[in-house]
Amino acid sequence: MAQENRVVTVTVNPAIDQTLSIPNFRAGAVNRVQSWRMDAGGKGINVASFLADFGQPATATGFLGADNDEIFRRLFQRKGIEDRCVRIAGQTRIGIKISDEVLNQTTDINFPGEAPSPDDVQRLFDILAELAATREWFVLSGSMPPGVSTSLYADMVRALRGKKVVLDTSGEGFARAVSAGPWLIKPNVDELREFVGQPLDSHAAILAAARRLSDRYGIASVVVSMGKQGALFVEGNDALWAVPPEVQVKSTVGAGDAMVAGIVAAKIRGLSLADGARLATAFSATAISHVGHDLTSIAEVEAMRDRVAIRDLS
Ligand SMILES: Nc1ncnc2c1ncn2[C@@H]1O[C@H](COP(=O)(O)OP(=O)(O)OP(=O)(O)O)[C@@H](O)[C@H]1O
Ligand SMILES: [Mg+2]
Repeated sequence: MAQENRVVTVTVNPAIDQTLSIPNFRAGAVNRVQSWRMDAGGKGINVASFLADFGQPATATGFLGADNDEIFRRLFQRKGIEDRCVRIAGQTRIGIKISDEVLNQTTDINFPGEAPSPDDVQRLFDILAELAATREWFVLSGSMPPGVSTSLYADMVRALRGKKVVLDTSGEGFARAVSAGPWLIKPNVDELREFVGQPLDSHAAILAAARRLSDRYGIASVVVSMGKQGALFVEGNDALWAVPPEVQVKSTVGAGDAMVAGIVAAKIRGLSLADGARLATAFSATAISHVGHDLTSIAEVEAMRDRVAIRDLS
């Protein structure tokens, strides 16, 4: 049965990821590109993309530079993602990754993002208000563009009160939005450490910090991810640790975005905390087994899900 579109993902600072493969890359020399690829990126857009691959329709909003939005339009069309992104003047930033498999190193060159105007920000809030009439899930993911207030996500959390707002960002924008009480947060352990200002050097310390946040700000669900060690899932009195299977990592880019998509897909399907943790972990483990921001097959996600280990901590 076709799923209803219930999810909106918000990407205020998207990027176009260009990956160049250059063996023996040298700065200050002429380098030849062996192969290259270009992907429409940005964390909320990745979440919508993973959901679409799993058969869960989603709407993407946020900002896109009007001058180079074609790669996004193609992605949205290919995956059936509804496009409600505000076009802003200029270009979406490009991130160049030079991957050198001989010297085994990666060099990043990041362009600055374009600043949305106050009118652009207002247009985005108007779209969110309109979508809130029919959608239940709102995923706010990724960094902030230049020139906007660090309260941007906090303002969205307040504007979307009563909706299931999922927050995945870092720094000041994260701290302010957490205080506004989103429904779910998915920091990685470094982001949580920065927020609470404690070392968090054991699973018990991470669990205690997650519980404190949940109680203090009324956050229904807290997920703390820790790369290949897995993730802690906390809801009320329930807590568990989900450990991914050993996989051959092709690219860890998008691991967190895949996890957020898996969490939302699980919630929409009404899965238990343990089954949801299995599915979300399987989304991530499948995503990192391939280059790009795609889940190549639902069957692969399901096979991965059966290999996730769950440890009850409640
Ligand atoms: N090397 C790995 N092997 C298996 N699973 C992994 C690996 N790295 C990440 N994962 C899975 O992906 C989940 C999210 O990864 P991670 O904690 O790195 O997210 P993140 O730091 O938010 O990433 P992002 O940079 O995408 O925001 C982990 O909880 C785990 O289930
Ligand atoms: Mg992350």
